[in-house]
Amino acid sequence: MFKDQEEKKGFVKEKFSNVADRYDLLNSVLSLGIDSLWRKYVARQLHGIEGPFLDVCAGTLPLSLTLVKNELRPVCALDFCFDMLAYGQHRLSVCRESKYIIHIIPVCADAEKLPLLSGQFGGVTVAFGVRNLGNIRQGIAEMHRVLRPGGKLVILEFSRPDTPVLSQLYRFYLHRFLPVIGGIVSGDAAAYRYLADSIEAFMSPEELCRLLVEIGFRDVSFKPLTFGVVTVYCADKVMKNG
Ligand SMILES: C[S@@+](CC[C@H](N)C(=O)[O-])C[C@H]1O[C@@H](n2cnc3c(N)ncnc32)[C@H](O)[C@@H]1O
Repeated sequence: MFKDQEEKKGFVKEKFSNVADRYDLLNSVLSLGIDSLWRKYVARQLHGIEGPFLDVCAGTLPLSLTLVKNELRPVCALDFCFDMLAYGQHRLSVCRESKYIIHIIPVCADAEKLPLLSGQFGGVTVAFGVRNLGNIRQGIAEMHRVLRPGGKLVILEFSRPDTPVLSQLYRFYLHRFLPVIGGIVSGDAAAYRYLADSIEAFMSPEELCRLLVEIGFRDVSFKPLTFGVVTVYCADKVMKNG
């Protein structure tokens, strides 16, 4: 699909830049509003953990906002697409939840080369971002590096339902419905064709868990939600003496 990782990164940045002001609306429409429940589930996995938190591939800040609303703060919200971060900040500043904005520190940078010191964060989250990275191993290794020993990584990512009927229906939704509706609302059908293809090509939950263990995480687990349309992964960075 892409010549190399840099070509993928350029494509991803441009596509998100094109759809930044319609991203939230499309997310809610295409997931029938369930996406906000998935993000709340992510926040619950970090309950009791002390901050600061890092939300990687934060986009228009929906997960960063969910974290701070759940007392998980402060949140460093990192994304390499300036337009996504800028739109998210603008929207937050004019809505009734604007009081939360002071708890979110936006950083425009590459997740694969985090401009952050090692061992700083109690929790790191990524929602719908891992699949988009040019080099997934490098990106997750960076998340591991910036976590404190004993800190926790929570990943929310699309997966594929594995029961035969649901899987057929989901494929139809992904390849026929999504690019058409996504294209009409966002004006960029290619972005939604990419979304469908990237979900189809993404690693299985078992493969992603293996990668997390290889990178050095412990207590790696995953939980499919909504019939396996998405999966939440939790992984701990070992304590220094653990
Ligand atoms: C599907 S959006 C997810 C936004 C948000 N986390 C959410 O829950 O909706 C994926 C985001 O990942 C960002 N992204 C992809 N690759 C990245 C990278 N290498 N470094 C930083 N951000 C990246 C994109 O710019 C985009 O904003």
